[in-house]
Amino acid sequence: MATDAGPWQASVLTLFPEMFPGPLGMSLHGRALERGIWGLDARDIRAHATDRHRSVDDEPFGGGPGMVMRPDVVDSALHEAANAVDGPRPIIYLTPRGRPLEQARVRDLADGPGVILLCGRYEGVDQRVLDAWDVEETSIGDYVLSGGETAAMVLLDATVRLLPDVLGQADSLSDESFERGLLEYPHYTRPACWTDRQGNDRLVPDVLTSGHHGRVAEWRNEQAEKITRERRPDLWRQLAEQDEKGQGR
Ligand code: ADE
Repeated sequence: MATDAGPWQASVLTLFPEMFPGPLGMSLHGRALERGIWGLDARDIRAHATDRHRSVDDEPFGGGPGMVMRPDVVDSALHEAANAVDGPRPIIYLTPRGRPLEQARVRDLADGPGVILLCGRYEGVDQRVLDAWDVEETSIGDYVLSGGETAAMVLLDATVRLLPDVLGQADSLSDESFERGLLEYPHYTRPACWTDRQGNDRLVPDVLTSGHHGRVAEWRNEQAEKITRERRPDLWRQLAEQDEKGQGR
């Protein structure tokens, strides 16, 4: 949160610091960065290499393909990043092996002072340095990216938009997907009748042009429930379990 302690601060440890801010320098996030609502410090892990070749990785013990990022190099980068900020921050390593990132964790991160993100390349990071720093391992989905940088951008995008004063008045959070445990209802705008390329007239659902706010709200809720049931039976079951425990919507 942007408090007296200063802006929400993201430190990103990466072999490609020039990838940042990238898309986070644009639009809402870019404006918030310029306004000092959040700060971004991309740090080059390679600056912590100690040998002649500036190597940051080595072959895996036990054999196998690929290379592993060295614990001493990553430790030095983490140490410097942790000392550059006031107070403790969660340290998150982006990896497909991590726990899936969810909106509830994103909200918690936005409520905190910031985050230190560790981006891996190659096969990953030596496990000992992750254990020593009690690093939280986080995945953004069940697919493999070529490095943690784009995953870090996803985490920062999702988190920074929740900081106070980043979204405009018009951008309501209350109805968006996951805020109530449901996916969001579908949206429509003018023209009320739109003809597609096959010549079909596609109309906006009548209820949305009825001017009846109660019926609109009811329809949107039905749609949100239907879409969640069909697309995300896992979320739907979670909601049903919460309802049974009396913690429902
Ligand atoms: N690095 C590579 N793939 C990733 C994923 N799916 N999530 C987070 N970090 C990653």
